[in-house]
Amino acid sequence: MEPIVIKGGNRLTGRLRVQGSKNATLPLLAAALLIDGVTTLTNCPDITDVSGMLKLLSQFGCRIVRCQHTVTIDARNVYYCEPDAGIAGAMRASSLLLAVSLARFHQAALPMPGGCTIGKRPLDGHMEALRQMGAHITAGERNVFAEASCLAGCVLEPMLQSVGITEQLILAAVCAKGVTTIKKCAREPEIFSLCQFLQAAGADILYLDDEIMICGGATLHDVCFEVPGDRIIAASYLCMGLSVGCDMTLYGIETNQLTWILSYAKKMQCHLEIEQEHVHIRADKQIEHIPYLETAVYPGFPTDLQSVVCAMLATADGTSVVVETIFENRLQAAKELGKFGADVRVDEENRSVTIVGRKHLNGAVVAAKELRGGVALILAGLRAEGETTVYGCEYIVRGHESIVEDLRSLGAQIAWMR
Ligand code: EPZ
Repeated sequence: MEPIVIKGGNRLTGRLRVQGSKNATLPLLAAALLIDGVTTLTNCPDITDVSGMLKLLSQFGCRIVRCQHTVTIDARNVYYCEPDAGIAGAMRASSLLLAVSLARFHQAALPMPGGCTIGKRPLDGHMEALRQMGAHITAGERNVFAEASCLAGCVLEPMLQSVGITEQLILAAVCAKGVTTIKKCAREPEIFSLCQFLQAAGADILYLDDEIMICGGATLHDVCFEVPGDRIIAASYLCMGLSVGCDMTLYGIETNQLTWILSYAKKMQCHLEIEQEHVHIRADKQIEHIPYLETAVYPGFPTDLQSVVCAMLATADGTSVVVETIFENRLQAAKELGKFGADVRVDEENRSVTIVGRKHLNGAVVAAKELRGGVALILAGLRAEGETTVYGCEYIVRGHESIVEDLRSLGAQIAWMR
């Protein structure tokens, strides 16, 4: 894929609608296969991970119609299949088809969604919890096989407060016999939107603070649902605005999901006007360093924002320490920042990075190795003096529909090198 070229130094000004959320859309697509009916999703982002998931659904016989940001999935005449290993193995979200295939077809066979640069990302917690619901699962190096005549509801406390495990169990529980209670569940907004979607389709779900109760067996029917705005993309664009200076409005997002970045901007005494679904920000100050920051499950500092924040802190007024507690190998982008002249020291063992703020960065030729790291390199390019070229953009388009067009519309000098 062609690289992105950036000439740094421009402020970001104007108004931008943030796209629909990748991490909200993917579990909704898996859930659509549970429904013996038609699912319509609006505000659905046009990104490669969504295209991949739609291809997997069509292998089960779903009829897909996609018109711009509206996708309809007809799952009335579906059949069991072992989805394509090339597609399913390349994306983590395909693991959610385990519960869905079990619930709909009483069997499932999936390629182990390979580890990626950010970590091993095993499925041990998914399998442990599904076994508690009565599934018989055998997992090889490369594949997972499962069968269950009928999943049984029960009280579950997953081994981890994991987004994927919580989503997997919600999908299993809506079709299980009896009541399932998921204790100490993940609380990311994407969990809540999955519950809202299934409730709109007829599921009986009670969403408490860190506990979800599901009465299985309800008949699921046609549903039309709007995908929420992408909170990580919105927060990433706010980090870019803080870094290069901005006078911009982002809309189409739930600002109550941007707590961390908005509280940081407030601490920097930026001008902020915050409404429920849009935020106007004016910033022209040097970035404030953060003495110590660690990633955490929601509503803590999100791991998906870690690389972007490290790039933002590269020009802070002091030294910051950032610790990645969720994934074991998510400091790749921080290492790449050194090519911009940033003073970044990575301690792999402690999963921490020390960033000594510099006044200036210089343009560089860099390569993304995963989605959020790639966005961090774009932020550094926007802030750097001179020209930056970012390779590895195939990772960035997995989650970003139009990052180049978005940033150009806000005044950045950025383009695809065609
Ligand atoms: C989701 O991944 C997101 N992906 C990730 O976003 C996000 O970083 C992550 O949640 C944490 O917020 C999607 O929603 C598609 P986890 P998920 O299960 O569900 C370990 C992005 O850039 N673990 O909460 O896979 C796991 O290895 C992506 O958009 C086990 O050990 O995350 C990780 O270290 C990256 N065993 C930690 O738990 C298991 O069975 C958290 O993973 C499951 C998870």
